[in-house]
Amino acid sequence: MSDIFDPISVESKYTSGVYYKRDVAIVRGKGVRVWDNKGTEYIDCVAGQGVVNLGHCHPKVVAAINEQSQKLLTCTEIFYNDTRAKLLDKLVSVLPQNLNKVYLCNSGAESVEAAIKFARLSTGKKEIIAAMRGFHGRTMGALSATWEKRYRQPFFPLIPGVKHVPYNKPQKIIDIISEDTAAILVEVVQGEGGVRPGDAEYLAHLRKLCDEKGCLLIFDEVQTGFGRTGKWFACQHYELEPDILTMGKAIAGGVPMGAVAVSECVHNLKPGTHGSTFGGNPLACAASLAAIEAYADEKLIERSCELGKYVREKIGCIDNSVIREIRGLGLMIGIELKTKVTPYLRALMANGVLALPAGPTVLRLLPPLVITKDELDQVVSIIEKVLNEGKNG
Ligand SMILES: Cc1ncc(COP(=O)(O)O)c(C=O)c1O
Repeated sequence: MSDIFDPISVESKYTSGVYYKRDVAIVRGKGVRVWDNKGTEYIDCVAGQGVVNLGHCHPKVVAAINEQSQKLLTCTEIFYNDTRAKLLDKLVSVLPQNLNKVYLCNSGAESVEAAIKFARLSTGKKEIIAAMRGFHGRTMGALSATWEKRYRQPFFPLIPGVKHVPYNKPQKIIDIISEDTAAILVEVVQGEGGVRPGDAEYLAHLRKLCDEKGCLLIFDEVQTGFGRTGKWFACQHYELEPDILTMGKAIAGGVPMGAVAVSECVHNLKPGTHGSTFGGNPLACAASLAAIEAYADEKLIERSCELGKYVREKIGCIDNSVIREIRGLGLMIGIELKTKVTPYLRALMANGVLALPAGPTVLRLLPPLVITKDELDQVVSIIEKVLNEGKNG
C-alpha cells in the first residue's frame, strides 16, 4: 500500500549521503536483539558501532533518562549540577588511578579534539605522533590523527605537526620523537584499523619514552572503554596509565557522550581554554551514571573477558581456509579473511546477524556484553555457514 511509511525511501531522499547504508530500517532494540520495520529480528553484533555494551534500552539507563528528563535536561557547565557531580565521582572510581580530572563532551571525536588541545596547552609543544591504521574520528583535529588516507586527503590541509608511524614498532617512534613532541596518541587495541591489540612491550615502551622526553601519552579508549576488552579500560590489561584517556561510545549506555580524563601531569586547563554547550548535560550524565553502575552490578566487565576467550576459541574451530587470523581482546573480535569482507557482512545480515567491517578484509564483532553463550554459539554457527557457502554478493 502506498500510504505505508517507508523509512528507507524517505531517509534516502534527505540523508546527506556520507554513509554507506545497509538496506534495512532498524526500529526497535532490546538487549542483544534489534528488529527492523518488517519485524525481522537480528542478533546485533554492531551494537551501534560498539555503543550498547549494556545491550539496547537497558532498563536502568531508560529509567535514569526518564527520571532526569522530568527534572532537568540541560545545564551548562558554567553551573554545578548534582547528577554531573555524581557521575564524575563514579567515573573517576573506575578510571586508571592517576586520572582524576575529567572534561565532558558529546562524542568520541570531540574527546580526541580536546585531548590534542590539552596536550598542546599543557606542554607548549606542537607535534602529535599517531599510528598507522589508527582511527580517532573525523573532525579536523581528530582526522589529522586518523591514518586512512581516503578519509583525510579530501580535507587537506589538516592540522600541522601530526606524524604517523607503524603501530607496534617502538623503534619508529624513537626515530622521530623530538623536542617539539607534545604527545603520542594511540589506541590500545586498534579498532577500525583491523582489531589489532597493542603489544605489551610496545605500549610500555611508549610510556617510558613519554616520561623520558617530557611529552604526554594519550590512549584513545573511545572504542575499547567500558568493558569492551574485558577490563574497564584496555590499558588496565597492561597495567599502564596514560596521561590523557579519551572516552565515548559506551560511556552512557547508548546516549551520545564523550569524555577526556587527565592526570596531574596535564597543566593549564584554565577557564576559557576549551568548552562545549552540551558537554556535561544532566541527561547524558544520568544515563552514564546508570550505565557505569549497571556494568559493575552485572559484572559485565568480567563477563566480556570470559566470553571473549570463549568465542575466539569457538571461531578458531571453524574449518575454513578463508580465515587468515582471529584477533581481539574481550568481546572486541576481529576475524581477518583472505578476501573482501563486504559480501559476508551482507550474507550474515540475511541470516539474522549484524556485524561490522574493520578495514576491507576484517569481520568485526562488537556484541553487547550481555550476550549469552548460546547467542554467541548461534553467531559462530551462522558465521561458519556463511563462510562455507562462500557467499559472494
Ligand atoms: C578509537 C576511536 N576514536 C574515536 C572515534 C570517533 O568517535 P565518534 O564517532 O563518536 O566521533 C572512534 C569511532 O569509531 C574510535 O573508534
